[in-house]
Amino acid sequence: MGEPRIEVVDDDVELARVGARSIADLVRADPEVTIVPATGETPLGTYAALADLHRDGDLPTEAVSVVQLDEYLGLMSEDRRSLFGWMDRTFLTPLEITGERVTRLPIDGDLDDACAAIDRTLATRGIDLAILGLGSNGHVGFNEPPVSAGAPTRVVHLTPPTVEANARYWGSAQDVPTEAVTLGMRPLLAAASVVVLVSGARKHEIVRRALEGPVGEDVPASFLRTAAGDVTVIVDRAAWEGL
Ligand code: PGA
Repeated sequence: MGEPRIEVVDDDVELARVGARSIADLVRADPEVTIVPATGETPLGTYAALADLHRDGDLPTEAVSVVQLDEYLGLMSEDRRSLFGWMDRTFLTPLEITGERVTRLPIDGDLDDACAAIDRTLATRGIDLAILGLGSNGHVGFNEPPVSAGAPTRVVHLTPPTVEANARYWGSAQDVPTEAVTLGMRPLLAAASVVVLVSGARKHEIVRRALEGPVGEDVPASFLRTAAGDVTVIVDRAAWEGL
């Protein structure tokens, strides 16, 4: 534990390069890692760069496991809005991570029971690496403010700012589900390593609040400053300087 390491990069191209290098270093050091990969737009370049490394034989993934970070509720499994589908297209398939090595969040049945079972598993096995984005309201995963640092994996209601921010992926706010499941703050804050990727001027205010403002439930990402493991925030100049 310690203060997050902040790495300011020039632009999204460098963000992808530095992000992929940091993640690849961790995977090469421990090829049996358990990774939680965020969806969203920010990590796409990083994931593409990781896929290039993998294709070139520079990133072994045979022993990598993945746990899903968040998922909407109320969708059919083939729905284009499924975040599992997003993770599959952008991370799992390009990196050839399949089958039992992938833990999917529950979307039906007894969700509370299933979420508790995931947290029990994570309490023993642990997350080695969480790759996170930063919501414009400070959320990590779908841990919407206000949230405590001890929040478990659970069902959540999405707040209007998140629905609005995610409308750009799916057409309109009406197309964004308002219920979701998310890994909790507690398992995420226990991760051995966390890499947070932040890009674009619209994230300026929130990245500064998360890293320099008070630590507390109004800005879930601020709790990363109390995380158990190593936290690296890779942020482009537009987000850091508000350009
Ligand atoms: P974004 O999403 O990477 O698409 O900005 C971040 C988030 O909502 O966590």
